[in-house]
Amino acid sequence: MTVCSWTFEPKHPEYQQRNVWVEEVYRPYVLPRRTRSWYNVDQCQATEQRTARESTMAGQLPKMMRKIVVTQLGSNFSQVTKLIEAPVPVPGPGQVLVRNRYVGINASDVNYTAGRYDSSARPPFDAGFEGLGHIAAAGENTGLKVGQPVVYLSMGAFAEYKVVEAKAVVPLPEENPQYLPFMLSGLTAAISLDKVGEIKKGNKVLITAAAGGTGQFAVQWCKNAGCEVLGTCSTEDKVQFLKSIGCDRPINYKKEDLNAVLKAECPNGIDVVYESVGGEVFETCLNNLAINGRLMVIGAISGYTTDYSGFKASSMLPLKMLQLSASLRGFFLMHYRRDFKEYMMQLVGLYKEGKMTSTVDMGDKSSTGPFVGLDRVNDAVEYMYSSQNIGKIIVQLYK
Ligand SMILES: NC(=O)c1ccc[n+]([C@@H]2O[C@H](COP(=O)([O-])OP(=O)(O)OC[C@H]3O[C@@H](n4cnc5c(N)ncnc54)[C@H](OP(=O)(O)O)[C@@H]3O)[C@@H](O)[C@H]2O)c1
Repeated sequence: MTVCSWTFEPKHPEYQQRNVWVEEVYRPYVLPRRTRSWYNVDQCQATEQRTARESTMAGQLPKMMRKIVVTQLGSNFSQVTKLIEAPVPVPGPGQVLVRNRYVGINASDVNYTAGRYDSSARPPFDAGFEGLGHIAAAGENTGLKVGQPVVYLSMGAFAEYKVVEAKAVVPLPEENPQYLPFMLSGLTAAISLDKVGEIKKGNKVLITAAAGGTGQFAVQWCKNAGCEVLGTCSTEDKVQFLKSIGCDRPINYKKEDLNAVLKAECPNGIDVVYESVGGEVFETCLNNLAINGRLMVIGAISGYTTDYSGFKASSMLPLKMLQLSASLRGFFLMHYRRDFKEYMMQLVGLYKEGKMTSTVDMGDKSSTGPFVGLDRVNDAVEYMYSSQNIGKIIVQLYK
């Protein structure tokens, strides 16, 4: 099984074009009413002038900052990365400088450091995928104001300050970490389940790593679509969490045998699997598919820090697919940029209506937490790989 190459490059013209959606989607949804008029056409000129004036505040910025760079390829995050001092970058036209307050930890941070997403990447390069903070300085023609809270997806987010294309940032009403998980984790769940899993009301859906960053959204997305949801996890705290977000059947695989539960409770099989663990879990899911079942490969976290190439799919796979008229489907978020707008509207809408929660884990219960400061990213990645997190892991850079 191979991992798709990561083609997410914020400077790529296609990416910039596709992120115009941010303008349309988020502003009316997440900005408080009193600030919405800021986007009225007749106020644009005044805003541009204010922005130009305030961008001179860049002079008050520190000269130096800290960021995490990948110094060699490898999947042991703390061994292959280094926290270094670097000059605070200056935003060019159409760009903003974001002072990160929160950064998101993702399972694939170690795939990126290992060079699995971009085979042309040569160290040193910057680590991290997503951040939330406020605009500290703005270049010309951004239409954004210094001080505006924003969230974004961009390579190199593990930094105190990050230059981002203005079109790629999403304005927020406040610097609330709960907004951060929607972009990468929430969109992955929602788009994959609809477009690739083709979930329908009444389907039985199995979510693996259900209590994690993206799993939590997968569970809730399926419940909102009227599916029956089973979710795997490894602790009783996670079982309770899964019940609290509507999961019909949390399965603690440390206490119950996953295969035995599925055989006993789903004799006709599972219609859709959101599979992100790989290895034996993948095989068990394959062996419990329903006729016309869809097994979606979202990830394979069990192999990310060990021998990724060690996983071999069963030689029976083609026959099993044929006998059930089932299908094996891959999903990679960045191939679905065209759907970001529509699905972000739906996710934010559900959140606003109280039909979707966003749970973040900042390491408060961890022996190495809470995760405050960029130097705690290593601990946060280790925390994920010790399977302790509930919800999305976030590191707070400053209080
Ligand atoms: N395809 C895409 O575009 C895309 C986008 C985002 C994420 N993903 C994938 O989604 C999955 C979840 O990512 P995430 O960032 O949201 O992480 P996460 O779910 O917040 O955290 C990882 C969780 O995976 C579970 N897990 C099971 N086996 C594990 C193992 N051997 N080592 C470590 N953890 C294990 C653990 O939960 P339990 O102990 O409860 O099982 C752990 O808490 C990953 O496979 C990731 O690559 C894919």
